[in-house]
Amino acid sequence: MTASANYGTTARTLHWLIVALLVVQYLVGWFMPDIHRGMQPGAPMFLHVSVGMLILVLILLRLAWRLTHPVAPAAALAPWQRLAAAGVHWLLYLMVFLTTMSGWNFVAVRDWQVKLFALVPLPSVALPGADFLARGHWHQLFEYALLGLIGLHVAAAVLHVFVYRDGVMQRMLRG
Ligand code: HEM
Ligand code: HEM
Repeated sequence: MTASANYGTTARTLHWLIVALLVVQYLVGWFMPDIHRGMQPGAPMFLHVSVGMLILVLILLRLAWRLTHPVAPAAALAPWQRLAAAGVHWLLYLMVFLTTMSGWNFVAVRDWQVKLFALVPLPSVALPGADFLARGHWHQLFEYALLGLIGLHVAAAVLHVFVYRDGVMQRMLRG
């Protein structure tokens, strides 16, 4: 499959849509009431789960699109930068996936009945080792690891805009 030189409209739209949803997701996650033993979830948690599952669907779509529509690394990048960018990009996919799956598992183990966006019942999926995963603070661990990676990714984008001035940022803005 030949790699194209730039990200197309679908790749860019999915990228920025996921960024916007992640901002909402962290804000709702931090501001919603803390979980206590035996409690039933309220509206903020329903919103968090709904947006989270939407992010899961979109990141899987984004991954499928990425695999079927490869894009060549920016020509301006040194070999070590290509390697670092590819590593961070794949880790971003992985951490979004793990963060959403661990949240879904948390809900499934507690047997909460959730309707996504008040419409679609959330399937209850118990992962292998589900109890273990739900006991530890895995969702929090993953969500902070993802935040650290996002920090690195955004810092690199800022460097490209203000220090290298090499047009890498433009690839995600105009294609
Ligand atoms: C990438 C997407 C997601 C992000 C960034 C995210 C982020 C967060 C944040 C910031 C919190 C607050 C925890 C804290 O105080 O540090 C939280 C809690 C929670 N989230 Fe998510 N979440 C995501 C996806 C999901 C999904 C898909 C579900 C369920 C289907 C979910 C279920 C929960 C639950 C049950 C809690 C409360 C229990 C806990 O703190 O572990 N999350 N999430
Ligand atoms: C303000 C925040 C962000 C900025 C400015 C930004 C910028 C960029 C830029 C310029 C690229 C293209 C890099 C290149 O040409 O090699 C890119 C790619 C990418 N970004 Fe972001 N990004 C941001 C947030 C995020 C977030 C939150 C995620 C989390 C999922 C993310 C995931 C990715 C991935 C996975 C790629 C690689 C594209 C691919 O799959 O091929 N970005 N980003």
